[in-house]
Amino acid sequence: MLTEIADTQSEEATREAVHRAVSLLQAGDIAALPTETVYGLAADALNPPAVEKIFQAKQRPYFDPLIVHLPHKNSYAEFTLVPEEVKKPIIQLIETFWPGPLTLILPRKPVIPDVVTGGLATVAVRMCQHPIFHRIIKNFGGPVAAPSANRFGCLSPTSADAVMRQLEGRIPLIVDGGACGRGLESTIVRVTDGEAKPQIEILRPGPVTVEELKPFGKVILTEHNLEVEKSNPEAPGMLAHHYAPSTPLRLLNSPRDFTPEEGKRYGLLSYRGQEKDGYIDLYHWEEIRVLSPGSGRIAEAGIRFFHMLNQLDQMGLDEIVAEPVPDRGVGKAILEKLRKAAIKG
Ligand code: TXA
Ligand code: MG
Repeated sequence: MLTEIADTQSEEATREAVHRAVSLLQAGDIAALPTETVYGLAADALNPPAVEKIFQAKQRPYFDPLIVHLPHKNSYAEFTLVPEEVKKPIIQLIETFWPGPLTLILPRKPVIPDVVTGGLATVAVRMCQHPIFHRIIKNFGGPVAAPSANRFGCLSPTSADAVMRQLEGRIPLIVDGGACGRGLESTIVRVTDGEAKPQIEILRPGPVTVEELKPFGKVILTEHNLEVEKSNPEAPGMLAHHYAPSTPLRLLNSPRDFTPEEGKRYGLLSYRGQEKDGYIDLYHWEEIRVLSPGSGRIAEAGIRFFHMLNQLDQMGLDEIVAEPVPDRGVGKAILEKLRKAAIKG
């Protein structure tokens, strides 16, 4: 199959790209689309054979459920059953964060096909903020299933090029909407009725941070026990070895942790590229990529994270060595991805 890239450099090109993507979705086919987080691989969520094409192109196991993107804020009522006791906080979260990078796990209505949720009673829903995705889903007029547009187990793509490297020949179209503005996959939460206030459990940390969720309830971020998850890969959404580059990666806690092996070629993923942090001068690195040069901005590191890691991954290194990043804001999401990538699978 020939994979085409549709650009969106002008209004005319955008109109054409939107038209082609919508036609593919309507015909029960798939297309890679830009979102504000990472590129997604989209299909009509209500058409099971179309959704199956996503699993096939990504080589994703059927037990790993997909995120459903909704065309309007209030579409949640059409596709999910929000329990009465959490209605208030759910509506507050939707009003505050949609359209945007927050995904809610909610009980699903029967219209959502089994193939989308791996048979689970719940469905993951969000409303995307990217203007091109927005135009496509508005014109399509229904819910769109779209996981990240990478091969299963590989790095999420934040550019059309990165999608091409992983899915060329497996999908008909990539709509190039430029680099993703947030750069990390959406924050996934489950809301339950707490004693004094609602409990917001973060299942996957992302661009919407603990700090931003706090006004809406008691926020719980479980540090998943990665070794247990590794031995129980059937728990959906909990796969430990998940975001791995193809090059082995290790995450350091301090510069003292690193002892190079003779003859190996190492690349450094640095937080801010400062000698005073102790990592740059540690070794004659083959390659260095810096997430947020200068004094370091954690939000900027999040935006550039997958792009920089993807670059190091293409250099044929023996190992990527990652500096730790600050454990706050989107730093939590970056650290989680680095920890998962560092697990030898
Ligand atoms: O930012 C994003 O969320 C991107 C863009 C494309 O929207 N999408 C994305 O999808 O990251 P995906 O499929 O790569 O990650 C979705 C995660 C998976 O780990 C899946 O197991 C989990 O959400 N998930 C989906 N439905 C679930 C459910 N009902 N219960 C628990 N976890 C669920
Ligand atoms: Mg993914």
